[in-house]
Amino acid sequence: MNRRIGFLALAILMAISVAGVSAMGGKEGGELVIGANIYSFADNFMNGVMKPELERYAAGKGVRIEIVDSEGQQAKLNDQVDVFITKKVSVLAINLVDPASAKAIIAKAKKAGIPLILFNKEPTEAGAMASYDKVWYVGTNSAESGIIQGQMMVADWKANPAWDKNKDGVVQYVLLKGEPGHPDAEARTRESVKAFVDAGIKVQQLALEADPNWSTQHGNDKMAAWLTSSFGKSIELVICNNDGMAFGAINALKAAGVKLPLYGVDALDQALTHIADGEMNGTVLNDGVNQSRATVDLAINAAMGKPVTEGTAWKLDTDGTKAVRIPYLPVTPKNYKEFRK
Ligand code: BGC
Ligand code: CA
Repeated sequence: MNRRIGFLALAILMAISVAGVSAMGGKEGGELVIGANIYSFADNFMNGVMKPELERYAAGKGVRIEIVDSEGQQAKLNDQVDVFITKKVSVLAINLVDPASAKAIIAKAKKAGIPLILFNKEPTEAGAMASYDKVWYVGTNSAESGIIQGQMMVADWKANPAWDKNKDGVVQYVLLKGEPGHPDAEARTRESVKAFVDAGIKVQQLALEADPNWSTQHGNDKMAAWLTSSFGKSIELVICNNDGMAFGAINALKAAGVKLPLYGVDALDQALTHIADGEMNGTVLNDGVNQSRATVDLAINAAMGKPVTEGTAWKLDTDGTKAVRIPYLPVTPKNYKEFRK
């Protein structure tokens, strides 16, 4: 080989290896790739808040993230994980479709020796998190959202005696639950209502409907049906376990020309607008931006074999659940402007 070509080849090789190291954050033998999914791209919160931040934040860290749509099918997600494993991704970041089906995914990752970060849907099967030393969870403390929403509603109920339309001292409510078996849906349903009971205020549930997709369409259809039902005129409060369903309920209320106190969870941009317009009385910030950042940070550290929170501000739970939990915050007509982007 002539000397000039030899030198050039060496220079190119060096450039490639330097670029490679920085792009993959130090992992040798290729770029660091996160194989990720969203349980359904049709979900307002997952697609509107978490997906863009996962992509933006990973790009800022110089790593590649591939995010696929599991279209609400756990079987599809299982196949997608198989494909990621065959492609030899460095780490998996998985949003379960079915919170009760974590073990199968964890077993796949374990067999392949690939670290796994689960996010947003906390596994409900006993022993799932303990079944693999390289699985972690990023999400929230589900109950906190219901407690905060409940406290907001209790305070507003006390401040607005006219909300008790039939003056019986009892809150006649309807509730849009979201996905049955989802820790967030279950805890919000329980805790928001418990806040009234704890405050010594009686409650009466007129209707409760679940929806695996937490969708706006569902919120609209259920609210419209409730308004024309036998108890339609008795409804005094609309509790929504996420903003997506709340938006549908607001549409139905507007279409019927009815105004009722209504609360959500997530603090999506559209919810802030509804609060500004007086169509929503409150919501709870579900901090998807920080949940996305923590997911990516933990994924990168795990892929590099480092302690997962090293060099980050995230803290693992002390209860042994191997989870990073991002706090919820109340969003009211008084403070909603602080949450505008
Ligand atoms: C959010 C919902 C979302 C669900 C998806 C919850 O934390 O509040 O809006 O539909 O996660 O798993
Ligand atoms: Ca009443």
